[in-house]
Amino acid sequence: MAVVSTERRDGYAIVTINRPQVLNALNREVLEALQEAVAAIEADAAMRALIVTGAGRAFAAGADIREIQALAHPAAAEAFSQFGQHIMTLIAQSRLVSIMAINGFALGGGLELAMAGDYRIIAEGAELGQPEILLGIIPGFGGTQRLKDLCGAGRALWLIASGERIDAAHALAWGIVDEVQPANEVLPRAEGMASALGTRAPLALAAAKRAVRAEGQLSHRLLFEAAEFGLIGCSDDAREGTAAFLEKRSPRFQGS
Ligand code: COA
Repeated sequence: MAVVSTERRDGYAIVTINRPQVLNALNREVLEALQEAVAAIEADAAMRALIVTGAGRAFAAGADIREIQALAHPAAAEAFSQFGQHIMTLIAQSRLVSIMAINGFALGGGLELAMAGDYRIIAEGAELGQPEILLGIIPGFGGTQRLKDLCGAGRALWLIASGERIDAAHALAWGIVDEVQPANEVLPRAEGMASALGTRAPLALAAAKRAVRAEGQLSHRLLFEAAEFGLIGCSDDAREGTAAFLEKRSPRFQGS
């Protein structure tokens, strides 16, 4: 069975990491398969959203520790980190709105993958953490930065320095995830959200994601928002959406 599988639904796709025997540890094969899966979904104009989840009892329990142990010199370790960062950035910058359905452990690279997504739903009973310090290393797939962005430097450094795992309620209270659901509700909830996005105007959806994710000081981000609004405000879909409202009918968005 493929280490990453894709199921396409109406307007969205579900990507499942499938190495349950090692709690979906992210080896190079999985990372490359994730990259291919996301690229293929993104290339499909009918797709608006992406759900990522894991088979079995983990979302992903980190980068594959066997591959980390085999890193022979500093340049190889740096390249390993950059490769992982690259995959996370592809997801973060994808036009697809990504919903991370965290069904179980999201540790190390698994949490870094979850944090690259746009919205995180975690199962009651799942646990998060950056336990790399317990292996004598640090997060290298973006965790030091995305965790700090989500929960602040103090909490991020505490999690990274201690290696402690936290439960779903704690992760919610610290802003690392967006909602907690009973385990059997995580995927249905993610699918409900993704299928709603499947009906939205695609250019506006992608612009909304870019604008919300814009970085820099507020004045620059506001300029960026205005530029995005400029691109979208006179699109065919904007004409259609406003006309449909005024004519009291449902819009038919074309993605133009
Ligand atoms: N890389 C490679 N293999 C991993 C792994 C990882 N990140 N995480 C788990 N596995 C493997 C285990 O080696 C074990 O394999 P085995 O059956 O051949 O011994 C299998 O997955 C099941 O894990 P196990 O530790 O037996 O399950 P558990 O329920 O006792 O503990 C965890 C679960 C998640 C707490 C524990 O597996 C763990 O701490 N994993 C490593 C987390 C980590 O450090 N991630 C950061 C990596 S940079």
